[in-house]
Amino acid sequence: MIYTRLGRDGPQVSAVGLGFWEVGSRTWRGSPEVAEAIVRAAHEEGINFFDTAEVYGMGRSEEALGEAVRRLGIREHVVVASKVGGFRPTPYFILKGAEGVRRRLGFAPALLQLHWPPPAWIPLCQPLRGLERAVKAGLAEYVGLSNFSGRLLEEALYCFSSLEPVSDQVEYSLAYRTPELDVAKVARAKGIGIIAYSPLAKGALAGVTASRAVQRVDPRFKAAASDRELMDALKGVAGRLGATTAQVSLAWLISKGAVPIPGTTKPDRARELAGSADVKLSPEDVELLDRASSKFVTAWGREYGNLRSIRYVPCALQYLGLRAMGGA
Ligand SMILES: NC(=O)c1ccc[n+]([C@@H]2O[C@H](COP(=O)([O-])OP(=O)(O)OC[C@H]3O[C@@H](n4cnc5c(N)ncnc54)[C@H](OP(=O)(O)O)[C@@H]3O)[C@@H](O)[C@H]2O)c1
Repeated sequence: MIYTRLGRDGPQVSAVGLGFWEVGSRTWRGSPEVAEAIVRAAHEEGINFFDTAEVYGMGRSEEALGEAVRRLGIREHVVVASKVGGFRPTPYFILKGAEGVRRRLGFAPALLQLHWPPPAWIPLCQPLRGLERAVKAGLAEYVGLSNFSGRLLEEALYCFSSLEPVSDQVEYSLAYRTPELDVAKVARAKGIGIIAYSPLAKGALAGVTASRAVQRVDPRFKAAASDRELMDALKGVAGRLGATTAQVSLAWLISKGAVPIPGTTKPDRARELAGSADVKLSPEDVELLDRASSKFVTAWGREYGNLRSIRYVPCALQYLGLRAMGGA
């Protein structure tokens, strides 16, 4: 495993982390019972970075991850990241959210992220000042953002006074390269790390067929799975290097300076995913993958816009909707 600093001043994290949305959420139906086996396998292979959120199974993912980390006795050796929902509009509500995260994990996360920007009519700085206060109150060591476009990221930086966010967690993969157009430029200039979510296009880049609803309705999954040029390029590089297409997809993100956080419900796959950090792509491999995926730089728009529509939904409705669904 290789390790890298998250942003200019963030924690040392493994080059590939692990997402925990899959575990405990109804969307993926991953059972919390396998959490410990997944964390053990990942940690044995050198992964020290785990990502969860308060809305994943409305807290069940956080509880499963926290319990696994505590039972394995590895709390001092891992960097746990969680997120509070963008439906928390003021410092007071962010602090309440952060307290809930600490309670469910059983310890304060190293990195506390705002999952998505607040509704468009709420001043951006209000929840961000809440993140800052959460650090002062000992509820996290670092703060991060998520689903912030390049433009919003620049605006957000003016809100912080005593610390800087270390990361922006955005969707980024061979099938979704929009962040290169805005997020990556701002992040590079300001020393902010990029955490790449859905790095396997929900499994399509690993070559699986869509067996769950969340995959069937995902436009990136469909686009990647049906793109012969991209899948052939991936298989070609993977075959030559004795790696899997999942590993090559993650190695490509690492070559771009991002920290991918793939998710899985299977311990063996966690080991495979960790192996992506050892896959050495040559400049020619990266160029081949760049070319085969070049359509996905602009195919989804020229500015990062995931979860943009939720910014027009009032906070209370966002929260009640998520609660009614049992979380994301
Ligand atoms: N900030 C945000 O708004 C946001 C949004 C989405 C996700 N996330 C984070 O990003 C993480 C990952 O993203 P994601 O869940 O959307 O998608 P992803 O990591 O791109 O794909 C996950 C899928 O890939 C499959 N998979 C994983 N490794 C595999 C392998 N080696 N071979 C074959 N299939 C494999 C998994 O299936 P199995 O379970 O069957 O292995 C699962 O279906 C989440 O856990 C979460 O922490 C954040």
